[in-house]
Amino acid sequence: MSDIPGWKDKILFTPGPLTTSRSVKQALLRDLGSRDFEFISTVKDIRARLAAMTGAANEFEAVLMQGSGTFSVEAVLSSCVAPDGKVLAIVNGAYGKRIVQMLRVLKIDHTIVESAEDQYPDLHTIEHALAHDKRINFVAVVHCETTTGIVNPIEKIGVLAKAAGARYFVDAMSSFGAVPIDFNAAHIDYLVSSANKCIEGVPGFGFVLARRDALSATESFARSLSLDVYAQWKGLERDGQFRFTPPTHALLAFHQALRELEQEGGVESRAARYRKNYETLVAGMRALGFEEYLPRERQGYIITSFRYPKHKNFLFEAFYSALNNKGYVIYPGKVSNADCFRIGNIGRISESDVRDLLRAISETLGELGVC
Ligand SMILES: Cc1ncc(COP(=O)(O)O)c(C=O)c1O
Repeated sequence: MSDIPGWKDKILFTPGPLTTSRSVKQALLRDLGSRDFEFISTVKDIRARLAAMTGAANEFEAVLMQGSGTFSVEAVLSSCVAPDGKVLAIVNGAYGKRIVQMLRVLKIDHTIVESAEDQYPDLHTIEHALAHDKRINFVAVVHCETTTGIVNPIEKIGVLAKAAGARYFVDAMSSFGAVPIDFNAAHIDYLVSSANKCIEGVPGFGFVLARRDALSATESFARSLSLDVYAQWKGLERDGQFRFTPPTHALLAFHQALRELEQEGGVESRAARYRKNYETLVAGMRALGFEEYLPRERQGYIITSFRYPKHKNFLFEAFYSALNNKGYVIYPGKVSNADCFRIGNIGRISESDVRDLLRAISETLGELGVC
């Protein structure tokens, strides 16, 4: 699918930035002013398309925030939690831990429910924490923990948050656009993702999908000027413009990426392509003797962590470099208690790209003497 004749980039089997289509790359080859009517109408259409993806467009606002995905997560925590609020942070991987790190930096009161990286969050512990600390009024969880690829049960957690009267925030960075999400069934108030994940745009901004009645109540909650979701929303509503320089090129690419998501048949069809990539990958990797870190029933189809083979000749750096030289970019592991590497199934890649990767892995194992 990397489709520019004579300009074949390496294929990115990573959690992002991802391989994008030629037409997405071409869409950004323009210089539009941030006050240009065409640019403003593009931003408006992006916001409308994102809001429509919640399935409840009249209840949600799409607020675009400059920066990588982390900036949008931090924007929600720093400007949507009330000044005297308390957050329940649910952790089973590095991105949940990053939420906790932000809460510490922001000096926001919080409590943590942590489980092992290969386990789902424990619903009874969450329910207990919410029942016993009435000060908790905000719950934060990661949907696909990209550390391992586990997809957390956001609907079940959302039901608990709702019953406790808490606002509910989902970091769906690596899943939005590829894993169907029922915003109302999950009682989501805020969800964050970014341009360079499963919508298949290029890096430059993230976005917050915010329930309007929740966001409307957050005026003056912000602990930072630039990461203020409410102020950004009001700015976009007022004149269609960003408050500070927008990533114009990334937005043009993203607009095209949204059109291509629609052409592909929407989230369900994209999910089917990624799932096929995943199934092909796992079958091939198992045939080559690799083992996944997660048990199959907890493994999502976004990204998979594989354990290093137990062979004295296996060195990840050598494996990585050899694949890189062949045109395939994989990703180091992030799991804290096992030696793993990761392979992503997302981006403009297809089953045939995965088969090519598997062939390259097989060759590389032979070259390294890992057989
Ligand atoms: C679940 C999750 N949250 C947050 C982030 C951080 O996003 P970024 O690297 O764009 O800041 C990532 C990145 O992969 C992620 O997967």
